[in-house]
Amino acid sequence: MLCYVRLMHKGDIAQVTEIDREAFPTLWPPANYGRELQNRLGRYIVAYDEEKTVEEPKVEASLEKGISGLASKVRRLFNHNRFLSNEPPSSGRQYIKGFAGLWIMADEAHITNIAVRGIHRRQGIGELLLILVIALVMELNARIITLEVRASNTAAQNLYHKYGFAQVGLRRGYYTDNGEDAVIMSTENITSAPFQAQLQRLKQAHCKRWGIPLYQIAR
Ligand SMILES: CC(C)(COP(=O)(O)OP(=O)(O)OC[C@H]1O[C@@H](n2cnc3c(N)ncnc32)[C@H](O)[C@@H]1OP(=O)(O)O)[C@@H](O)C(=O)NCCC(=O)NCCS
Repeated sequence: MLCYVRLMHKGDIAQVTEIDREAFPTLWPPANYGRELQNRLGRYIVAYDEEKTVEEPKVEASLEKGISGLASKVRRLFNHNRFLSNEPPSSGRQYIKGFAGLWIMADEAHITNIAVRGIHRRQGIGELLLILVIALVMELNARIITLEVRASNTAAQNLYHKYGFAQVGLRRGYYTDNGEDAVIMSTENITSAPFQAQLQRLKQAHCKRWGIPLYQIAR
């Protein structure tokens, strides 16, 4: 599978927003990923296709419109949209298949989102993202991972169950669009020997099944 994972950059916002809208069309207001990237407590990763590129993201194009005459001319002169930004030049063009986000609060991490483009689901990408979310949480020295998921979302709940999350509570009527309950799920201590042993088994099985070349987050 030609899928790698790296930290999310500004140039990814348009594609991530597109994936978010497809996955969570009724959530209002939509998540503001520009603001999320500035959040000290937040961490976002994207799964991308190494061999596929996309046109310049729409968000950048609309930002460009808002830039007053002179700055815009300077940009065109250099023919380089990211001339004024400090991110790697190619990141905005990689095709993104899915993303995940989390907030870290002391020794607890909260998964805010995991979403995969509809056409790429059931290809091990959600699982890849979750494996790397867990790796990131360990790197950040948190021990417990929690999340909320719609009671009807069996696909996501199965994924989380597979990785050792268990239901620890229910928030009744949590989702304002349809009044659906949220299931609260949590891991045990992710540094514990049983959790780590199970994680290694699952990683090996995932690698064998999908042929992922590396389980690292590129910076
Ligand atoms: C949940 C989601 C991220 C899963 O991503 P994915 O790439 O399709 O999942 P994977 O192919 O990696 O599957 C991993 C595991 O998830 C579970 N799963 C995924 N899709 C499933 C489905 N349609 N039905 C049942 N289980 C499913 C299975 O346990 C699967 O393991 P298996 O292949 O051994 O059965 C994806 O369905 C999605 O983006 N949904 C919309 C957004 C969303 O609901 N996010 C969760 C918010 S809490």
